[in-house]
Amino acid sequence: MAPRTYHILTFGCQMNVTDSQWLARALEKRGFSAAPLEEARVAIVNTCSVREKPELKVYSALGRIRHASRNVPGAFAVVAGCVAQQIGSGFFEKFPHVRLVVGGDAIGSAPEAIERLCQEPGLRLNLTDFSASYNERDPAIGPSDTLPPVAFVNIMQGCNNFCAYCIVPYTRGRQKSRSSEAILDECRAVLDRGAKEITLLGQNVNSYGMDNGETSGPSRFAELLCRVAELPGLLRLRFVTPHPKDLSPEVIRLFGELPQLCPRLHLPLQAGSDAVLKRMGRKYDSAAYMRLVEALRKACPDIALSTDLIVGFPGESEEDFRQTLHLVQEAGFMSGFSFCYSDRPGTASAGFDGKIAAEEKLERLERLQAQLEQQAEAWLAGRVGRRTDILLEGASRKGSGASAAESWQGKDPWGDTVNIALPAGHPGDLVRVEISAAKRHSLMGTVL
Ligand code: SAH
Ligand code: SF4
Ligand code: F3S
Repeated sequence: MAPRTYHILTFGCQMNVTDSQWLARALEKRGFSAAPLEEARVAIVNTCSVREKPELKVYSALGRIRHASRNVPGAFAVVAGCVAQQIGSGFFEKFPHVRLVVGGDAIGSAPEAIERLCQEPGLRLNLTDFSASYNERDPAIGPSDTLPPVAFVNIMQGCNNFCAYCIVPYTRGRQKSRSSEAILDECRAVLDRGAKEITLLGQNVNSYGMDNGETSGPSRFAELLCRVAELPGLLRLRFVTPHPKDLSPEVIRLFGELPQLCPRLHLPLQAGSDAVLKRMGRKYDSAAYMRLVEALRKACPDIALSTDLIVGFPGESEEDFRQTLHLVQEAGFMSGFSFCYSDRPGTASAGFDGKIAAEEKLERLERLQAQLEQQAEAWLAGRVGRRTDILLEGASRKGSGASAAESWQGKDPWGDTVNIALPAGHPGDLVRVEISAAKRHSLMGTVL
């Protein structure tokens, strides 16, 4: 008999990671169990198409799956997420073992579809229609489940911004906000099952509740933050990703007012040159970005900022690029993700003139990453000697000089990973430490 086993490979952003975690819980509720790829009847790839590289990884993953599951009776593959949305039933033509293609809006119906496919061997399903509003799904959290201390809760799907380089509005569809009641219910449910920290997720969280492009009126996102912060049991609140053009004064003020809101903000800059920002369609310039940085530091003097950057956007000159280096320094980022510009099908910039050669993009990326690395090291070095609270997440992977059982890993309020030696601990404990040393990408702490 064919086994009821599954395996999930996940690419892309935190929204995909969260969708995959949900899908795993929902399949387990239906009696499936997790297995290595070689033993999985249902192999699921949750895909990302934001750049060409992650898209290509999907095709190699499908090749790997086909080979790995050749001895499993009734085995088939599922393609979920953004490449699924982009390519749709095209997967059926190229990959005979793919029997379900499911986009972000339809992921809630994937468990039922997988069940059907297990029962009807000849069937193939393409679930890539966009829905008109946010699709609620069964939370798949059982009364006796224990969840990790750090939880992620979706507050919206999609994006209306159409930045010139970005495929997300095409793969995730238009912005659809989730109702605040449903968000608060899910937050309460995860807090009841052991979560202590919640990160609210969306492609453009600042415009939560403004799905039809309205920009005036009170910030619905600020209201939501206040309501989530009040929930009993919540120690820490974070959110990703805000767009600088929509970061309201109310939200900025909350960094100084809500004790649960962590002093860390990921605020994608993308480029430092006003000409490039304009062609990207970001709708802010470098001065407006720096005004936000100042306002954030005024509201919350110890706030740490991180960012996303693209190098080699069409038409980017050496001088434009230097302005990115300059602004990265001026804004004082503690870390940043940086990428070479990649043409995406259907986006505006795919048709722009002035494409930059691959070697030039890589050379700029290396220079930018060297600077980001330097700033990250300086940030971590500056933490040494400070006292702070660590939310324990689990056993430390690398150990911290102590035996493995005594090594714990957690995060400080700024999102830095901190390893500590602790004889006994429990995920979700808040531990007071003094930062004793800085490693390349993490910190060490001594319990006080
Ligand atoms: N909604 C978020 C993140 C979107 S995707 C935001 O608005 O910031 C994550 C990051 O991928 C982006 O911030 C951008 O830096 C990068 N990215 C998106 N499209 C890209 C492309 N075509 N080429 C290179 N990087 C890209
Ligand atoms: Fe893409 Fe821009 Fe939307 Fe972010 S805000 S998801 S970069 S279109
Ligand atoms: Fe990638 Fe889709 Fe997220 S394109 S970054 S998985 S929204």
